[in-house]
Amino acid sequence: MKPVSIGILGLGTVGCGTVNVLMRNANEISRRAGRAIQIAMAATRDPTRHRGCDTSAFELVRDPHAVVEHADAQVIVELIGGEQEARELVLKAIGNRKHVVTANKALIAVHGNEIFEAAQRNGVVVAFEAAVGGGISIIKTIREGLAGNRIDQIAGIINGTGNFILTGMRDQGREFDEVLEEAQRLGYAEADPSFDIDGTDAAHKLTILAAIAFGIPLQHDRVYTEGIGGLTREDIGHAGDLGYQIKHLGIAKRMPEGIEMRVHPTLIPQRRLLANVNGVMNAILVNGDAVGPTLHYGAGAGSDPTASAVVADIVDVVRALTTDPENRVPHLAFQPDSLADVKILQQDDFESAYFLSLNAIDRPGVLADVTRILADLQISIEAILQKEPPSNEDTVPVIILTQETREQYMNEALSRIEALDAIPRPVKRIRVEHLHD
Ligand code: HSE
Repeated sequence: MKPVSIGILGLGTVGCGTVNVLMRNANEISRRAGRAIQIAMAATRDPTRHRGCDTSAFELVRDPHAVVEHADAQVIVELIGGEQEARELVLKAIGNRKHVVTANKALIAVHGNEIFEAAQRNGVVVAFEAAVGGGISIIKTIREGLAGNRIDQIAGIINGTGNFILTGMRDQGREFDEVLEEAQRLGYAEADPSFDIDGTDAAHKLTILAAIAFGIPLQHDRVYTEGIGGLTREDIGHAGDLGYQIKHLGIAKRMPEGIEMRVHPTLIPQRRLLANVNGVMNAILVNGDAVGPTLHYGAGAGSDPTASAVVADIVDVVRALTTDPENRVPHLAFQPDSLADVKILQQDDFESAYFLSLNAIDRPGVLADVTRILADLQISIEAILQKEPPSNEDTVPVIILTQETREQYMNEALSRIEALDAIPRPVKRIRVEHLHD
């Protein structure tokens, strides 16, 4: 059979990884896809730059529009990232009746509803496995492998850079900025690394996971998001003293009143598998009513692991090109006319246990005042730890672990505690999830 021609937009870390994997494994890939895959053209900002892949076998251009207009390219692989230009190019490719493979989570999370609708109208596929979890095939697993389940919870470490930083701070006692620089050097971080730090990248990915797990539209603006920027080595140490690890989690839960979507640092009991996922690795816990808890683990960022998912999508599209176009797996797992308008819960309605880190002036009655406030709001305490005061301070660090409560009550408790004279600084709050992996 004639080879399938593809066009690539972007030859950065993931673009070059994709070229390398397609070339290195060409024989295996064509045996799987049923046809050879050849790159017709690739666009890159600077075609003269030396890069980490062999570009001699295809045409290299500056203008990405030349790729989406290429007469022979049946599949466009979008790896430039970012939102606006990528949206324009992908919609143009779809309008030209080309199938699209993308690793762009911002694009799918923010513009996915529009893009899928255009794809549906034009009878083309938009595949985005590499957008979540790097090399882990979590989209396919939820959309196809777990299609028989009612999913009630997803909890995952879905930003490799953030996990790499937290692991480096904990295990090597390194500074935040130094580990971040290393993550950038290794090609893990986003072009704008603030997306990794402030939780935006994880929120993009959680938006996608929640949509395909629960059959709801993509609603990125409804994800409650906190990043890892405020975490210190002391926080990590105090959590460790209590038998917990701090991980940056994306959580989507089906609750009786609606769906929680949240991204934030989270204490996880040390014995949980998720607590032991380190470095750039990602892991996603999916709980289905039939299958029970399943955990999906692998490299969450980096050139070859992300290319692994991109190439898998290209193979899927190539297979689909020779099969019934009406019988494809729906983009968001559920048929487009069956997406549900389920309520997305506000932050006040979240339910969680909490790790509170406060500094208290060392005098009788202060702890009693704090615990009375918690008791008045029906918040039960699981553990309290008073640490030695640092020699240059007149306050003592106090760590409190609570049982589950509504976020609304915790917010009220924190504002009352912070109003006490003996608590001179804001209280740090990190949510705790006990999970069952
Ligand atoms: N910057 C992302 C991460 C890349 O670190 O997880 C993979 O999406």
